[in-house]
Amino acid sequence: MADLETAEKRIEELREQIDRHNYLYYVLDSPEISDAGYDALMRELTKLETEYPELVTPDSPTQRVGAAPVAAFGVVEHRFPLLSLANAFSEEELRAWYVRAVKLAGQNELKMVCELKMDGLAVALTYVDGKLVTGATRGDGYRGENITQNLRTIRSIPLSLPKDAPPRMEVRGEVYMPRESFSKLNRERAEAGQPLFANPRNAAAGSVRQLDPRITAKRALDIYTYGLGWVEGKEMPRSHWQVMEYLKSLGFRTNPNNRLVASIDEAVAYYKDWTEKRAGLRYETDGVVVKLDSLDLQEKLGDVGREPRWAIAFKFPAVQGNTKLLDIGVNVGRTGTLNPYAILEPVAVGGVTIRHAALHNEDDIRRKDIRIGDEVIIQRAGEVIPEIVGPVLSKRTGKEKVFSLPEKVYDPEKKRPACPVCKAEIIRPEGEAMYYCTNAACPAQILARLQHFVSREAMDIRGIGESISETLRREGLVRDFADLYDLKVGQLAQLERMGEKSASNIINAIEKSKERPLARVIFALGIRHVGSEMAEVLAKEFGSLDELATASEDRLQKIPAVGPKISESLAAFFRQPENRDLIGRLKRAIPRLREKEETKAGTLPLKGQELVITGRLESLTREDAEAKIRALGGIAKSDVTKKTRYLVVGADPGSKLAKARTLGVKELGEEEFLRLLEKGKA
Ligand code: IVH
Repeated sequence: MADLETAEKRIEELREQIDRHNYLYYVLDSPEISDAGYDALMRELTKLETEYPELVTPDSPTQRVGAAPVAAFGVVEHRFPLLSLANAFSEEELRAWYVRAVKLAGQNELKMVCELKMDGLAVALTYVDGKLVTGATRGDGYRGENITQNLRTIRSIPLSLPKDAPPRMEVRGEVYMPRESFSKLNRERAEAGQPLFANPRNAAAGSVRQLDPRITAKRALDIYTYGLGWVEGKEMPRSHWQVMEYLKSLGFRTNPNNRLVASIDEAVAYYKDWTEKRAGLRYETDGVVVKLDSLDLQEKLGDVGREPRWAIAFKFPAVQGNTKLLDIGVNVGRTGTLNPYAILEPVAVGGVTIRHAALHNEDDIRRKDIRIGDEVIIQRAGEVIPEIVGPVLSKRTGKEKVFSLPEKVYDPEKKRPACPVCKAEIIRPEGEAMYYCTNAACPAQILARLQHFVSREAMDIRGIGESISETLRREGLVRDFADLYDLKVGQLAQLERMGEKSASNIINAIEKSKERPLARVIFALGIRHVGSEMAEVLAKEFGSLDELATASEDRLQKIPAVGPKISESLAAFFRQPENRDLIGRLKRAIPRLREKEETKAGTLPLKGQELVITGRLESLTREDAEAKIRALGGIAKSDVTKKTRYLVVGADPGSKLAKARTLGVKELGEEEFLRLLEKGKA
């Protein structure tokens, strides 16, 4: 425990910071820290105030909600304050809340309603005689802004209610912007050169607080209502769930994913379920709200400070955080691209420490106006590499540096920008956002190609990490990935920090990789624009590396999924003599690659079947016909036997026809044969 004096000082600091962030968030709609950062400050303050209750003052941010509204809109006094919610960040905290609630309620089991916590902004809608008369923001919880005109533009907010609605009532809910509308809005703003919104919540808040409601109307906002403020002139059910059903019957939008549950275990299960599924929702959520269902118990438990005791927000792990951009580094990708990446002051986001983030390309950095030294908002989305959302402009000191890739990789000896690894010349092809190292033998490219080749989704060769790849390259054992298949246990075992056992493990893994299907091999080649899905398409279409390598650009373009960029890239790849050599060596190493793989429908239509041709065909030569049979997995034979599946009969057939008839072999005329070939290709 800190001593009283240090605690007092820290409490002062925290209050100042929180007040400022409240102002930025609630008044200006331009937060400088993420929710996670804000929550951390609040928690620290709450903890200190619990340890030193004598230091709690009425003006502490823990004792009130938000900051004052801006003056441009009229002010609305809330009859009952719009409260905030206490947060739980772990299952234990949620269970602890429940245990307290059970104790206070004096009952064994409590019914609860689980709701998704929408990431938008709270509004209060007042209806008099069934008409919407006032719509207000939360503001500081007691007084909000009058944004009625703007809220009227949201189509899911009813303007009038059915006749039997209560004469006076206030309905509360969350206004939010669906993800799709958010992306569209930001795309339009980027095109118009306007600053981008950091997330859908800021976009929703910014939209609802437009002085011109016509702008709000264009912003595709939505609402889910989540409770009643107050009602006059009508008896209401005494259950939150039933109140929500009633609101639904009056025409309010309620979230269909809400659930009535009978135990805290069920609430935990609901949370876990949505932690997984929330990425698939049309809108953003930042947690689950658990509320006691009984309104009598809600009243009995009451509030403490800014928060009710009868409800709690169980937050999802944070996906955004703030940190400092220390520098921008450049690495070389497998196709020679010079990739800028962010070097960050380490920061924990959702339980993971982040040190680097993707920056895509120079244009992207410029568009987002990211400068070295900026405080930046970073974001993690699922498994994906973290990315930078944008800089916190208000934190600029003027000392930040604008990034230029050619300047960053400038070589003073050569007096020109150069590949940071091999010093070769770099180019930026017209119309492209990336710079490229022009040296295919660049060690960084070799390494990156090797790493891609052995990666899980490609050949899945375990045990060849970055440092072993680098040793293999340095020792001259591996110049490209075909060389992997010539490695011997003895050679590997001699390398530093490598034993007999791990050497033979690696050789076994390489051996096993020979079983990978064609699609994986195509993907492993690392051809620009050919991802794993495209590789599947190509494997199905061609069935062998040879057929793919010799396909013309025209032929490639006939495949629906293949556009000009891909066909061009494939053709360029297979034109390169080095790559042809590489393919030749791979084929020698991997027997599978010398056979044709099953195509299209999964199986080759003529797989393993023997066909014999007799006589002259009108539309194709004997060789072409036999090649087509082989392409569909068939075997072209010259003699009719019992095993012959079909005899293809052309003009002036020879003795084979008679033999086929005595053996009862099925005959195909030329047209039937062509149809069979066509069907095989479909
Ligand atoms: S109930 C006293 N239910 O979360 C209970 N709030 O931190 C007050 N929110 O200001 C709110 N979804 O803006 C409730 N299903 C939900 C919610 C929800 C989002 C927001 C609301 C509130 C904040 C509380």
